[in-house]
Amino acid sequence: MKLNAIILAAGKGTRMRSLNNEISKVGYPLLNEPLVNYVIDSVEDLINGETIVVIGFGGEYTKKIVEKRAKTVWQREQKGTGHAVMQAAPILEKCEGSTFVLSGDVPLLRKESLEAMIAHHKENNADLTILTAKPASNFGYGRIIRDERGFVIKIVEQKDANEKEKLIKEVNAGTYLFNNKKLFEQLKNLNTDNKQGELYLTDTISLFIKQGYKVTAYTLEDSSEMLGTNDRAQLAEAESLMRKRINTKHMLNGVSLEDPQNTYIGPYVEIGQDTYIGAGVHLLGKTKIGINNRITGSTHLENTEVGENNIIISSHIVGAKIGNKNTIGPMARMRGECVIGNGTRIGNFVEFKNVKFADGAKCAHLTYLGDTIVEENANIGCGTITANYDGYNKFVTHIGKNVFIGSGTTIIAPVTIKEGAFIAAGSTINKDVGEDDFAIARERQINKEKYANVIRQRAKDIKDKK
Ligand code: UD1
Ligand code: CA
Repeated sequence: MKLNAIILAAGKGTRMRSLNNEISKVGYPLLNEPLVNYVIDSVEDLINGETIVVIGFGGEYTKKIVEKRAKTVWQREQKGTGHAVMQAAPILEKCEGSTFVLSGDVPLLRKESLEAMIAHHKENNADLTILTAKPASNFGYGRIIRDERGFVIKIVEQKDANEKEKLIKEVNAGTYLFNNKKLFEQLKNLNTDNKQGELYLTDTISLFIKQGYKVTAYTLEDSSEMLGTNDRAQLAEAESLMRKRINTKHMLNGVSLEDPQNTYIGPYVEIGQDTYIGAGVHLLGKTKIGINNRITGSTHLENTEVGENNIIISSHIVGAKIGNKNTIGPMARMRGECVIGNGTRIGNFVEFKNVKFADGAKCAHLTYLGDTIVEENANIGCGTITANYDGYNKFVTHIGKNVFIGSGTTIIAPVTIKEGAFIAAGSTINKDVGEDDFAIARERQINKEKYANVIRQRAKDIKDKK
């Protein structure tokens, strides 16, 4: 069966109450990933035809998010969910097969539920299958109206429902599987005869029945999957449910989480067995972590690869590749593109930007390295700073194998310090240093005997005169 998907994502998201007119509702993040990506993830593997996202409010924002994975069509004015689906007509109208219609603001729906829906659709030889659920609160959702034999006959929106209809527990989850040609044929017959004056997609049900087309409903086992994220309270609720789902998966795969309620792992993160994740840790984006690591103290890793047997404490690391057996933090920060080898020590209050740090190198405390290559077993003393920027240009520092940089050194790039060189503490280095050379660049120390008493007396006299 040819299968397409239309994802509705043009709505304004009025209930988010944002001052920002650029962002669309489906662009709001859940664990750092836009809502609409979860919807594409759930359906992508099932589709062998087109995936089309209907964009409108904040459309440029949505387009940037989805354009690598889906086609987009504009709905310039938001005249309802039925009108939104119509915008896909130029691409889909003439296609054979079936089409899913999904809401871009329903991120918890699982692929397995959509598969079950497809099976139900096929078993019943249906022209339209509606996904329904019985959530604890039915407020705001379209109510499912069934006849005395249990067949669905229509959906009535909250705003159009009478008192009796409002009591109905079964609601529309906002996900549908249509016979594609019949969908586009019947969309033409929709009208705006309702409280909101919109073209409701849900009115296709009565239109299908009128034609004698077969309509069935598939009810979700777990109604939480249909949670719509219309406001920020629902967004937070959805995030906590998603977090639980993701964290449970990792724990069952052999990852230890100290406090699963307080650990934030994005949907694309991979973690190896026996890795221990402490409370408050964020692992986001395409982060990939190997086995046997210990990551604690509110560490934040984003788009970062971590090998095996590392210890990372209270650090903020974005876009880095980290090897094995390193000790990092507390308070290490890495940005740009950092590549860290094996068995290194990157210590307390150290910032790296675009640093290659080879095996066995050490940088234990209070340092900034930018645009720097550090070769094997070099030792960067406490308080070393690379001055890599002149306000216009960035310059590279190259530190060779086994180099020893004394504490409090300032390196004014571009500088190359060759293998085995030794830099005296407190130096300001702006010239290259040769292999095994010793560089010292500071004033010589002068000691004046008992002269401290003279200084003190002078200070006291000034104070007494006031
Ligand atoms: C809709 C359903 C309701 C269902 C609920 C489930 C209709 C008429 N109602 O209500 O029965 O219980 O979803 O979550 O379909 N959108 C557009 N263009 C528009 C209007 C909406 O693209 O002109 C998009 C929105 O961005 C959103 C989705 O369609 O992703 C649903 O719209 P929304 O306004 O949230 O509908 P609900 O009131 O939640
Ligand atoms: Ca909604």
